[in-house]
Amino acid sequence: TILVLDFGSQYSHLITRRLRDLKVYSEMLPCTQKLADLTWKPAGIILSGGPYSVYEKDAPHADPAIYDAGVPILGICYGLQEMAYHFDDKNVSAGEKREYGHANIRVEKHGKGEESHIDKLFDGIEDDSQDWNEVWMSHGDKLSTLPSKFVTIATTSNAPFAGIAASYGPFYGIQFHPEVTHTRRGNAIISNFALKICSAKQEWTMDKFVDQEIERIRALVGDKGQVIGAVSGGVDSTVAAKLMTRAIGDRFHAVLVDNGLLRLNEAEQVKETLTKHLGINLTVIDASEQFLSKLSGIHDDPEKKRKIIGGTFIDVFLSKAKEIEKAAANTANAGPIEWLLQGTLYPDVIESISFKGPSQTIKTHHNVGGLPSKMSLKLIEPLRELFKDEVRLLGAELGIPPDLVWRHPFPGPGLGIRIVGEVTPEKIRIVRQADSIFISEIRSAGLYNQISQAYAGLYSVKAVGVAGDKRVHEWVIVLRAVTTTDFMTADGYEFEWGFLKGVMRRICNEVSGVSRCVYDPTSKPPGTIEQE
Ligand code: XMP
Repeated sequence: TILVLDFGSQYSHLITRRLRDLKVYSEMLPCTQKLADLTWKPAGIILSGGPYSVYEKDAPHADPAIYDAGVPILGICYGLQEMAYHFDDKNVSAGEKREYGHANIRVEKHGKGEESHIDKLFDGIEDDSQDWNEVWMSHGDKLSTLPSKFVTIATTSNAPFAGIAASYGPFYGIQFHPEVTHTRRGNAIISNFALKICSAKQEWTMDKFVDQEIERIRALVGDKGQVIGAVSGGVDSTVAAKLMTRAIGDRFHAVLVDNGLLRLNEAEQVKETLTKHLGINLTVIDASEQFLSKLSGIHDDPEKKRKIIGGTFIDVFLSKAKEIEKAAANTANAGPIEWLLQGTLYPDVIESISFKGPSQTIKTHHNVGGLPSKMSLKLIEPLRELFKDEVRLLGAELGIPPDLVWRHPFPGPGLGIRIVGEVTPEKIRIVRQADSIFISEIRSAGLYNQISQAYAGLYSVKAVGVAGDKRVHEWVIVLRAVTTTDFMTADGYEFEWGFLKGVMRRICNEVSGVSRCVYDPTSKPPGTIEQE
C-alpha cells in the first residue's frame, strides 16, 4: 500500500487514482496523519500538492516520523517544498512569478553504484514522442536552494529545481504534477516510484477485492448479524447489495421504496433483476400515495419538494426496517438488525476526510448521508474504497447485467425534480411515457453509451397546438441529454436534427396530453443536469 498524504490540492485524489490504475493499492489520508497511528506499514509515501506556503505560521506539516521510517517518499509541488523545508527551513521562497500551465523538463542523470537510485524516478520516461517532456506546473513558491546532500534531477526554464533527489536514500521531490494528464509521462513517473522505487505489489484486482471484502463483511457482521439497505436499481446500490448477498445471503435485507416517482415500469424491472437474476433478498414497498399526497399543492419551491421526498423516504424506510427486524427475529438463527448498508464511494469519502486547512476540523466519512443519524445502526460501506469505474468493474465481476452496470444515473427524488412545478399523477404518467420513448430512441440509435445522462421532463405550463383539426392546450415536454465525466460540469449533447425531430414526432403523437417538445442544451454551469 502506498500512503498519499493530502495537503489539500485539487489534484490529490488523482494520485490515488493513478496508483490504482497500476493495480497498486493506495490510501489517501489527511496530511496530519501520525505514522504511529497507522495499523499498516506503507511501502512508500507521497506528499501531495496544496494551496499553502510552507513557511507560513499555520502551514500544515507532515509527521516528521515519516522521514525516519525507512520508506521512500515522493513530494509533489507543495510536497517537494514541505520535504525541503523539513530538511532546512531556508530552502523555500516565494517565486517571482506564479507558474501555471505547461512547461518542458530537462532530465539530469547522475547515479552510479550506490547512488543509482537517483535516476530511477525518471527511468525510461524519455520516449520517442515529441512531447514526452511536457509537464503541468501549478505553483507560486519554489525551491531557492537544494537541501544538503540532494541533487537536481530535472530543470525547466523557470524552475532550476523542477526535480530533486537525495543522494543518500529514496527521497524525491518534483515541482510539477505527474498525476494530471497534461504531464505526458506522469503515469510513467508514478509507476517508477511505486514499482521500481517502493517495490509496491500490484495486487489490486477486482476478484481479489471481492474475496477480501466478503471476508471482511463476514467478520464484521458475525454469524447471526442482519444488515438492511435501501436499493434503487442504480449501479452503486445494486453492486453493494449483491456483494452483501454473496457474503451473508438472506441475512441481508434490501428495501426498494417505490415513491411513485420512478420511471415507466421501473419498480417491477428492478424487482425482477434483483430477485430473479441476482438472488437478492428484496422487499418492495409501494409508498406512492404517501409521497404524492405530500407533494400535492407544492408549486414553486424545489427545495421543499426535495425535503418532502427525503423526509418521507426516511419515515417509510424506518418503519419497514422495524417490521423486517421483527420478522427476522422470529427465524431460527437470526439476531437483531445492527447494520445499515450504504453505497458510499471513494470520492464521497475523500470529500469528507480531505485536509481542509489548519483551522478547520477534519470530518470523517460517517457524516456522509442523512439516514444513519436517524437510526441507531452501524454503517457498512463495502464500496468506500472504490471509484465509480471500479464499481462498474466490480459489478461485472459479480455477474450484474451490463445494462444495469452502464445505466445512466437516476436521482433519489426521481421524476419529482424533473417535473418543474407541482407534481401530479397526470404529469407523472406523461413524463414516464415520453422518457421511455426518448431513451428507447437513444438506445436504437446506438447513442446510449455516448451520453452520460438523458431524460424527458415536463414544464408546468400549457401551450397551444393543433391535433387533427382541433385546437389543443396541453403540456410541454423538455428533453435533456448531457455528456460529462464527473457530473460537476456538463455539456448538452449535440443530436442530429433528424433524430430530435423523430423523437418529437413520436412523443407528440403517442403521449396524450402533450402539445410540444423542447430540447434543453444548457451546459452546467449555468444550468444543472436535473431541472430542479
Ligand atoms: P445536478 O442536477 O445537480 O445533478 O446537476 C448532478 C448529478 O446528481 C444527480 N442528482 C441527484 N442524485 N439525489 C441523488 O441521488 C439527488 O437529490 C440528486 N440531485 C441530482 C443528477 O441526476 C446528476 O447525475
